[in-house]
Parts: sequence; structure tokens; C-alpha cells
Amino acid sequence: MNWLSLLVPLPIAIIGFAAYLSVQVWKHKNLLSKITNLPPQPPEGNWLLGHLGMLPKDNKLFILNEQLFKKYGKVFRIRILFNTWVVVTDPELIKKITMSRSYDMSSMTSNAFKDLFGEYVMLSLTGDDWKRHRKLIAPLFTQARLRKFSTFMIEHLDKMVAQWKQESSKGSVEVTELLKRTALDIVVEAILGYKLNSLGDPSNPTTRAARVMLEMFPKTLVPFYKYTHPFEYRNLKKSRDMIKNLVEKIIEDYKNNPEKDAELLTLMMGASDSETGETLSRREVIDESLTFLFGGFETSAGTLSWVLYHISKYPNVQKKLQDEVDSVLGGRSPSFEDVDKLTYLNCVLKETNRITPVAPQSARESVEDVQLEGFDIPKGSTILLNFHSVNLNPEIWENPLEFSPERWTNFFAKNPEDRDKSKDVFPFGHGFRICAGMKFAELELKIAMIKMFQNFTFALDESKKFTSINMLIHTPEELYLKITPRV
Ligand code: HEM
Repeated sequence: MNWLSLLVPLPIAIIGFAAYLSVQVWKHKNLLSKITNLPPQPPEGNWLLGHLGMLPKDNKLFILNEQLFKKYGKVFRIRILFNTWVVVTDPELIKKITMSRSYDMSSMTSNAFKDLFGEYVMLSLTGDDWKRHRKLIAPLFTQARLRKFSTFMIEHLDKMVAQWKQESSKGSVEVTELLKRTALDIVVEAILGYKLNSLGDPSNPTTRAARVMLEMFPKTLVPFYKYTHPFEYRNLKKSRDMIKNLVEKIIEDYKNNPEKDAELLTLMMGASDSETGETLSRREVIDESLTFLFGGFETSAGTLSWVLYHISKYPNVQKKLQDEVDSVLGGRSPSFEDVDKLTYLNCVLKETNRITPVAPQSARESVEDVQLEGFDIPKGSTILLNFHSVNLNPEIWENPLEFSPERWTNFFAKNPEDRDKSKDVFPFGHGFRICAGMKFAELELKIAMIKMFQNFTFALDESKKFTSINMLIHTPEELYLKITPRV
């Protein structure tokens, strides 16, 4: 390429782009200036970027929001370019918003999901289209289906345990990678009935494509990502196409052999609304399969990594957990019915979700002008539901920074009927759009925890740096543990 040929068009494009941004920012500010009773905001940042410069370098927006919450209270706003985000940090307000038809999925997230996964994914749909999908798909996670899922969850986890046993003699093991591969194998089998085997063969092309698609997707939420990273973006789309082709092939195969069970895919194809007779089209089923793969991959692996991170630091909690697993199961493999018998394990999971939720926040958009805590919120505002600030609020939690499953043991002892309601930490969101795979996820997390603590004792390898990453979801990135098999 002759770079000199860019000398004229490139500066014109840059100036054009800057002018476009300036006009958008001006229009946005002008619109807001007509509203007198807006939520408070930190002193206006850069005229163009707004408060973008305040974001921590590691992109942990929820940390910035926590700091601002201390200063500005339950509802405040920040501006990023020409988007104003209204941040909500109060549990009752969060519940009110997620249960109100005045709010729907935010177009910021919705557009990104649409762009990569397709027009018809639950995470991007709004209004009646979303209702139809949710009504047809959510009930597919029946008890009978979950029981079936539990059998292959156990199979995959047994393979992971065997691999950790082999690696345990090495001194220390980086655990997040094997957790991710196991979670991927589980969710691919549950959604598509397909044995991916990313645990045994991480470099096979399908595994690689699935991981590129699922792990890189959150980056596309960064404004203008596809223009600033055209090659990465092309690679992402290529990987997406490869996975879509695989789903197409599985559907064809199922059509030719209808006695085959392609798990959730089969159920989605047969789903029909008993009142209206509506069904999902082939394209809708394909798009939804991809969303469900996304929904159930890094979230589950990340939660399990956080469990291991906390437990490795608290040997007394680990011992109590192992004692419970031993006394309930007596060394045998767990069954579907066992998972809810482990009450302390449930408290450990809740405490992990409180202190380090993998989804520290979610978003909605106001579909009409609304009032929130007496403030005027114009139609089309992005509302950030900041769960993490709720979970660390000292007015709600005693010693909020302390990892203590006992706070839940005590809470449930005093409030036996109130399993989740008054002290919600929102790991799966809340309201109409609460996680559609929640039951699946809870089952997987609990079975995995049983398997891990039945077989091993974990300790942090203090000589290695621990890192976490936040791109839409917040998960450990590198976690080295000394793993001792239990005899
Ligand atoms: C530990 C595991 C998981 C966590 C922490 C998690 C968390 C979440 C959260 C926070 C939301 C947004 C809810 C809201 O804004 O109110 C969500 C939505 C969703 N999740 Fe999950 N999730 C997990 C596992 C799964 C699994 C296993 C699946 C599928 C098999 C799944 C499928 C979905 C779908 C389809 C939605 C969109 C629901 C809608 O918009 O109606 N998730 N999840």
C-alpha cells in the first residue's frame, strides 16, 4: 500500500469523525439542559469524553461507581461521550426498576449482542419479541432436563478432577483455564448435545472458535471497537460463523434423525406457546443457541474461580465445607437430589457472589420519561444497576469487606422463610429479565463445588500474582493454587 495516498483522506476522516462526535455531545448536553431536576454528577470532565478519564485503567467501571456512590448517594449520573448513564446503587430501587415496564434492555448492550450473535437473541430483544422468546425458552429448564444435565456435568467434572490430580504434583496449578474448558464442555453439551472436548483437546478448531467468540465478544461493547480493531473484529465474526455453521449442521442432523436428542436445541425447535401456538423459527433457534453459550460459559467458570480464591485464603471455611461434603455424601459422587442438602456450601456460594459477583452490574434503558427518587430521568437513558455497591454497602452489611459465609448461616437461622428476598445480592440480576439459565448455573456450581472439595484441599500460591479481569463480567484471570489431593 502506498501510505502517501492516505495523506489527504486520513486527516479528513479524523476531522470528520471529531466533528461528528462534537455535534453528538452538544446535542446530548442541549437535551439535558432542558431538564432541571437531574440526578447529581461529579464535576464535568473532558468536554468530549465526559467522565471517561475517571475510569480505572483496568476498566473496572463498578469500582468507580462505588467511589461515586459514597459521595453522591443512591442515584447519580456520569457521562461517557454522548451517553449519560444513571447509576443506581440501592437494592429497593434496583428491584423497582427491574420489575417495571418503564424500563427494558439497554440499547448499548442490546446492539452489541445483535451485532455478533444475531437479531433474535434474548439478551438483545425488547418488548413483545423478548416476551415471546422468554415465555418459550425459560420453561425448558425442567427438573427432568436438569437431572439429565447433572449426569454429564458430573462426567466433565470428573475429567477435570483427574487432570488436576495429575497436575497437583507440579507445585502449583493455574486453575482458571481448566475451569473455563470444563464450563465450555458442559454448556456446549447442554445447549447443542455436542461433545466438544475442549478439556482434552484445547486446540481443536471448534474449541478455538468458540473461545474467540465468547471471550472476545465483551470487547465489542467498547465504543467504536469494530473500527479501531478491524482485524480482531473480523476474526471474531469468522469464529462466530464457524459456530453458527456447527449449530446448522446439528439441526440438519437432528432433522434427519429425529430420535436424536440435541438437548436444549431440540427443545427450542419443538417449543410452542400453548395459548397462541407460536413457535421459534430456525434462525431464532440458532441465534438463541449462541446467546446461551455466552450466558453459561465465563460466568460459571468465573464464579468457581472466585470460590477457590476465597476458600484458599480461609482454611477454616474450607475445612467446614469439606466436613459438610463428607458427612452428606460419605465419599460417593453427588446426585441431582444431593445438591440442595448442603446448606453451608450454599452459604459459601452466596458469600462469594456477594463479595465478588461475576456480574457486578447490569443495565436497563428507560422506555419513557420516568422519575427516580424524585429525579427526572429522560426516555432513552441508560440505567446502570450497580449490584456490587449494594453488596459492599456498610449500611446493609456488617464488615462488608470480610469474607464470611457465617453471616448467611446466621441470617438463615434467624429468617428461615426468607431464603433470598430481603438480603438480595443479585448474582443473577433481578426481575423480568433475571438470568434465564439460573437454575442450570446453580446446579453446575454446586456440583462442581462438591467435586472440588471432595477431592482436594486448596491453598493460594503466594509467590504468584493474582489478577482479575473485567470486560462485562469480572473474573479471576490468573489464579495459582497449591492443590493437595485428599486421601
Ligand atoms: C454463574 C453463572 C451465571 C451468572 C452469574 C449469570 C448472570 C446473569 C445476569 C446478571 C444476567 C442479567 C440479568 C438482569 O439484568 O437482571 C443474566 C442474563 C441471562 N443469562 Fe445468565 N448467568 C449465569 C449463567 C447462565 C447460564 C448457564 C445461562 C444459559 C444456559 C445463562 C443465560 C442467560 C440469559 C439467556 C440471560 C438473558 C435473560 C433475559 O434477558 O431475559 N446464564 N445472567
